[in-house]
Amino acid sequence: LLDCSRHFFSVETVKKYIDLLAFYKMNVLHWHLTEDHGWRIQIDKYPKLTEVGAWRTEKDGSRYGGFYTKEEIREVVAFAAARGVTVIPEIEMPGHSQAALAAYPQFSCTGDTTIKVANDWGVFKEIYCAGNDSVYLFLEDVLTEVIELFPSEYIHIGGDEAPKYHWENCNKCQKRINDNNLKDEHELQSYFIKRIGKFLSTKNKKLIGWDEIIEGGIPENATIQSWRGMEGGVVAARNQNQVIMSPTSHCYFDYDLDAINLEKVYSFEPVPKELNKVESAYIIGGECNMWTERAPQELIDSKVFPRLLAMSEVLWSQKKKDYINIYKYLKLLIILYCLNSNF
Ligand code: ACM
Ligand code: ZN
Repeated sequence: LLDCSRHFFSVETVKKYIDLLAFYKMNVLHWHLTEDHGWRIQIDKYPKLTEVGAWRTEKDGSRYGGFYTKEEIREVVAFAAARGVTVIPEIEMPGHSQAALAAYPQFSCTGDTTIKVANDWGVFKEIYCAGNDSVYLFLEDVLTEVIELFPSEYIHIGGDEAPKYHWENCNKCQKRINDNNLKDEHELQSYFIKRIGKFLSTKNKKLIGWDEIIEGGIPENATIQSWRGMEGGVVAARNQNQVIMSPTSHCYFDYDLDAINLEKVYSFEPVPKELNKVESAYIIGGECNMWTERAPQELIDSKVFPRLLAMSEVLWSQKKKDYINIYKYLKLLIILYCLNSNF
């Protein structure tokens, strides 16, 4: 995963990372394109998503942002395809949508026109209203344009960290809960995700969501990305849903090296021991996540490397690995590199 929303990355940098992924046999780029802090993908039907949503006013008053035009996205997708890398876009919902709501406040529960693109880090309570049918029409329009750009089998719709505060206090959301005999706001989230999942299936696309989407009922056929540990993935695999494992414990490359060092990444086991053989087959892969709250473009090399090498080896190896060997090998590579570049 590359988060190009908290910080914006040039097309050249995204391509450089696709080259590096291909070099290390990573076959998917999960491209995180929408956030509270910036909407990064051109959508023709809703121009304010990028006119307003792609830009934030920093605390020092400066303007920060950017977005990818459709032409640039096609270029990136083709560049990746030529290297055996599939690009899966992530369009976050219902949470992490403050930038979209700054552009189109009518899709929030309150219609608050003072909502701004976020300029500090955290989880925000501005989420799409789940009781308003125009929200689903909006998201379907957006996804229709997204699907035209990305030939991937999957579309990631986020689903993580959606505080339910506004839903609890919104007449439309409460009416939706009553009309559909839902138990609470978690079931409303499940309703939301399932409705989007149904739409995606009419377009022959499969839905991926973060493990919160299993709360309130696992959407049938959804692929679950387990990030708050492995437990969500275990529950999903036992329910015969596909799983991508990316727990914060081993796979969050935005974390400091003190928390997740090379050896820790190398010890990652994407298939939990408690799953039997049939259940294990639902774990379709693992993923490392490069969130960028604290990592603008010039810093990410130092975060991704050398941990990506360890992740690649973990994901492509069947047997227990030998950390000392990879450590020695990496040191040798660095010495060779330095000699070669007269460093
Ligand atoms: C996540 O890290 N919020 C998926
Ligand atoms: Zn609402």
